[in-house]
Amino acid sequence: MRVVENAEELGRIGADLVTEVVGARPAASIVAATGRTPMGLYAELAARRRSGVLDTTAISTVQLDEYLGLERDDRRSLFGWMRRSFLEPLGVSDGRVIRLPLGGDLEEACAAFDRGLEARGPFDLAILGLGRNGHLGFNEPPSHPESSTRMVELSPSTIEANARYWGNGADVPTTAVTLGMRHLLSARAIVLLVSGTSKRTIVHRALEGPVGPGVPASFLQDAANDVTVIVDRAAWADR
Ligand code: PGA
Repeated sequence: MRVVENAEELGRIGADLVTEVVGARPAASIVAATGRTPMGLYAELAARRRSGVLDTTAISTVQLDEYLGLERDDRRSLFGWMRRSFLEPLGVSDGRVIRLPLGGDLEEACAAFDRGLEARGPFDLAILGLGRNGHLGFNEPPSHPESSTRMVELSPSTIEANARYWGNGADVPTTAVTLGMRHLLSARAIVLLVSGTSKRTIVHRALEGPVGPGVPASFLQDAANDVTVIVDRAAWADR
């Protein structure tokens, strides 16, 4: 775990890690969370790309989660947010993006999606944020470590937290699709970014508390692969 001074340093240290992964594996598959926490990291990656330090021409990107029931161009689309903050600044074209299924027989579509993921093998890197309720993606509590890509009901805590993105709670869709825990936990490298006082209680529970479905991020304590947690002082200070 790395404790850093502030959100700016969090972005820089996170970007160092991503740069290292992409340097070693230029065609890395990367899960890129939305949410406020990784935005500094993405801006730093874009700056490194512009200055020629980082070559993202061969990476592919995997969508972590998405609300259900929105039109494609809805301002609240998490794919739209990912496009603005990650795909466009890093020059990742549509053909190199793996998008979650959102329609049709969703259960069957998610099962087919997971079969496709399994055929590809584990992700090279998952860049994740931490929900105030301990979720990863929209794997709301309780979520089991073997859980698949699926439709979920968002918890009141997540709806309240997401209200700050879109206006108020009534603007937040109540259902979503999320990559399953098993795909996240099997990524070759995982970087969890945690910033700000609102995450103080949950980050301690996730990293130091008992491991279990009530705090999905606690399963990172048992993840077999390379997990780096980067926490700023505002989040890590004594509760
Ligand atoms: P945040 O969201 O980065 O906006 O705090 C994190 C999350 O809910 O996973």
